Amino acid sequence: MNKEYTFEDRLSGVSKLAKLALVTGASEGIGFELCKLLAKDGYSIVLTARNQKQLERRVEQLKEHKIETHIIVEDLSVPNACERIVEQLAQKNLPVDLLINNAGFANYGNFAENSLEKEMALLQVNIVALTKLTKLLLPSMIKNRDGKIMNLASMAAFVAGPQMAVYYASKAYVLSFSQGLACELEGSGVTVTAVCPGATSTEFQERAGLGRSKLFSQVKPMDSTTVAEIGYRGMMNGETIVVTGALNKMMAFSTRLFPRSMSTRLVKRIQAAR
Ligand SMILES: NC(=O)c1ccc[n+]([C@@H]2O[C@H](COP(=O)([O-])OP(=O)(O)OC[C@H]3O[C@@H](n4cnc5c(N)ncnc54)[C@H](OP(=O)(O)O)[C@@H]3O)[C@@H](O)[C@H]2O)c1
Repeated sequence: MNKEYTFEDRLSGVSKLAKLALVTGASEGIGFELCKLLAKDGYSIVLTARNQKQLERRVEQLKEHKIETHIIVEDLSVPNACERIVEQLAQKNLPVDLLINNAGFANYGNFAENSLEKEMALLQVNIVALTKLTKLLLPSMIKNRDGKIMNLASMAAFVAGPQMAVYYASKAYVLSFSQGLACELEGSGVTVTAVCPGATSTEFQERAGLGRSKLFSQVKPMDSTTVAEIGYRGMMNGETIVVTGALNKMMAFSTRLFPRSMSTRLVKRIQAAR
């Protein structure tokens, strides 16, 4: 932690200078890039992920911005992890103004052959934890009539995804949930933004086992800094859906023009094993 603020400091106006953001999956990739942008804007940040050492390294990297930082180590695939995060925030008097539900992962392979445990963990992280953190942190945002929520969806949200059926379906949930909630919250002072990146160069590809698929060899991935910048700008402008990059925008639009059976077969070809 770089600097301590008391709850009174926050109420007395320090909070206006230093609003607090909670970022899940802050140790790597798009999540850490978003932390850098928040730090540049003077946000205090709670970074959460499983790898404590990596989170500590990330906090070191943010030190130049002289912001307040905290680490919470939790595995979001474990039931009650979100409750424990919110409990720790309450214990430390850290009311969250901005929530970034970024943690997520994919699992490449045929559904029938993939491990049940891994598919269930995916649903827990990509869907359940994202929904739960939103549910638990939203009331105080509504009370303050001020808050921002960013949910990491994906281009996968627009189509079905053979070889990663559960992942694609999880991102369709994130997009639909975010859009529905954003509409419910109109006029409340709280905005919800679903960010939809296409292939992006991070740890994601390796972790998902996507080296075996044609996807990342056929599509040039965007860099995580650009993706984070586009998403961050969209969130700050209160946009509901942000698709990153012109090509992705075109592809998202084109999914409305063709039958889903056609896009599903196309994705199957792109994601087939090399
Ligand atoms: N990269 C892409 O091509 C791409 C495209 C579209 C959408 N996205 C979405 O963007 C988001 C960020 O992905 P990324 O590309 O930055 O991936 P990444 O580099 O693999 O980072 C994922 C982050 O999530 C955390 N995480 C993973 N499993 C977790 C768990 N069980 N509990 C808590 N934290 C966990 C990881 O930290 P620990 O391992 O330390 O826990 C890491 O900080 C994800 O939601 C992903 O679905 C990515």
